[in-house]
Amino acid sequence: MEISKRIVAIVGPKGGVGKTTISANLAIALSNLGKDVIAVDLDLGASNLHTIFGLKQPKFRLDDFILNKVKSLSDIVCETHLKNLGIICGGDIPGIANLDYNKKLKLIRNLSDLKGDFILLDLGAGASNNVVDFLIIAKEGLLITTPEIPSLLNVYSFIKTMIFRRLNLQFKKNNAIIELLEQAKDFNANPHLKTMEGFLTYAKEIDVEASKSIEKILDNFKSIIIVNRVKSEQDANSGKVIQNLMSQYLNIKTSTIRTIREDNNVQIAIAKMKPVILHAPESLFAKDMNIIARKLL
Ligand SMILES: Nc1ncnc2c1ncn2[C@@H]1O[C@H](COP(=O)(O)OP(=O)(O)O)[C@@H](O)[C@H]1O
Ligand SMILES: [Mg+2]
Repeated sequence: MEISKRIVAIVGPKGGVGKTTISANLAIALSNLGKDVIAVDLDLGASNLHTIFGLKQPKFRLDDFILNKVKSLSDIVCETHLKNLGIICGGDIPGIANLDYNKKLKLIRNLSDLKGDFILLDLGAGASNNVVDFLIIAKEGLLITTPEIPSLLNVYSFIKTMIFRRLNLQFKKNNAIIELLEQAKDFNANPHLKTMEGFLTYAKEIDVEASKSIEKILDNFKSIIIVNRVKSEQDANSGKVIQNLMSQYLNIKTSTIRTIREDNNVQIAIAKMKPVILHAPESLFAKDMNIIARKLL
């Protein structure tokens, strides 16, 4: 992988919070800033990224790759009206959401080989292994939520699931750590493992090297919490709920919060089959999106 290339996963455990809208428009905002971007629809099973770009019948889709009709993922990048922006359109084959492990590994390898400054992954809802594994390879995540409490709590438990899966994969040959991770799942029985700090204290006693590498994994996890559809000041501050939980329970202190305001232009643009950032470049949504893109550079 080139050093400069960044794979960014756009995730959110709930459907309808704006993942696809943000993926598409962020891709455009970054390409407007002169970056080479590929946006990939990985919402296996409910793909719709292409419709935001007004593509009714994409020439290629992810199925073509999954079903081995093409050799590599780079063969199915569709052009858009923007020179430095390509998209990989979602597939639509029954059962694709339960992608088997080998196919997933092949897909992950091919994603890492795509050329560009930014590869954006528009992921499905939920915290299935498929979704979580793509976030793990991405190394950077935009965590999309709306300001309501259930949505905020969902994002936190999603991150927790992701961290535990990551640690389980990393330490699968380290029985003592795996045992500790198992115990941490039941924190009523093991209140001393309720926080990552507690977990690390015990991990250190078992295996100093392992505990150091866990700390590193937590430090390296870059996440931006995006609170979408903000209507008030209170909404704008709601992301702090996730930020505090992540810091208190998971020892992740590096997350930042951005906000995107509620904007009717989003719906109007969808009806016109045009991305909102092109349809209404002066809109609240476009302004907020451009800020997020600039800060990502
Ligand atoms: N900032 C916003 N203002 C108004 N409507 C929005 C905003 N963000 C998303 N939406 C609307 O929310 C709906 C769901 O968005 P979508 O991107 O498809 O969500 P997801 O991919 O998370 O399922 C769409 O109808 C979209 O137009
Ligand atoms: Mg979506």
